[in-house]
Amino acid sequence: MIEDLNKLFEDFKNQLSQVIDLQQLDNLKTDFLGKKSPMGNILRGLKDATPEERKELGMKSNEIKEAMTSEIENKRIALTKAAIDGKIGSEWLDVTLNLSPSKNGGLHPVSIVQYEIEDIFASMGFTVLDGPHIETDYYNFEALNIPADHPARDMQDTFYFENGAILRTHTSAIQVRGMEKTKPPFKVIGPGKVFRVERPDATHEAAFHQLEGMVVGENINVAQLISTMKTLLSEIFKRDVEVRLRPGFFPFVEPGFELDIACQLCGGKGCSVCKHVGWIELMPCGMVHPNVLKAGGIDTEKYSGFAFGLGLDRLVMMRYKIEDIRNLHSGDLRFSGQFI
Ligand code: DAH
Repeated sequence: MIEDLNKLFEDFKNQLSQVIDLQQLDNLKTDFLGKKSPMGNILRGLKDATPEERKELGMKSNEIKEAMTSEIENKRIALTKAAIDGKIGSEWLDVTLNLSPSKNGGLHPVSIVQYEIEDIFASMGFTVLDGPHIETDYYNFEALNIPADHPARDMQDTFYFENGAILRTHTSAIQVRGMEKTKPPFKVIGPGKVFRVERPDATHEAAFHQLEGMVVGENINVAQLISTMKTLLSEIFKRDVEVRLRPGFFPFVEPGFELDIACQLCGGKGCSVCKHVGWIELMPCGMVHPNVLKAGGIDTEKYSGFAFGLGLDRLVMMRYKIEDIRNLHSGDLRFSGQFI
């Protein structure tokens, strides 16, 4: 019987050496260690053996079982490793960027236009201000003459934090912050990201960009407002663009205007971007409301001012003839790579 066991082990080793995959290995395991294995048959003969033989055979069979189990597990590890190595070899994936020398990365189109506008304003004597994305209700609404129950808040629903802070809905939030820091006369701009509850479409996104501007001094008037706007637009587009001014309502300006430019995608004929009207609302503006000046601690007897809120993404869309605002935040290199 000892011989039988030794022979069985030899057989096992032979067959194991021919196993080439995990399926075969599992079959071999069942054949040699399963319930119906030859080992079982051999051990069944034990009942006729003497106690010494039984003891010896018992030990030998355990020894062989352990050896088989450990050889099977070693083989399993080797086969698994070989399978992984094989996969790595055949399915090699290049996770590095395709960095051709001309594509070393660059600025996003919104940044390109923002920096350009900052330069234009800097050359006109403006300073650039920054403000927080997470704003207080006070700077975003209250100080801008938009009290809690004002219907203008409906147009600018946003994300509210439990402590009452909000994601700012417009860069106008920098107005009173700016006035608190600077003594008039001053000229400031404040570019940045703003957030609203929006249903996204070709011209609306929940996060977008604006550029606020504000000029406060003695005898500031509407004519200066309009000439500043026109200078800016001709600098940006490098040519005269058709504009129109209409009355517009914003609680923080009086009088308020909507400044539209002829849609640069369709030349004013009407398309999906301008909602078929031929005009794009680009730059709402107006004379700063006295309540806002007062909130900023400014003497309204002595000073007046104008302000505007430029839709930066819209301007970028007009400038580069981009048909869908959602491209800007898509992170798609096929889109942003075109501006490098
Ligand atoms: N903050 C306004 C908005 O997002 C836009 C705006 C209108 C800004 C008139 C101004 C302004 O500075 O004078 O809808």
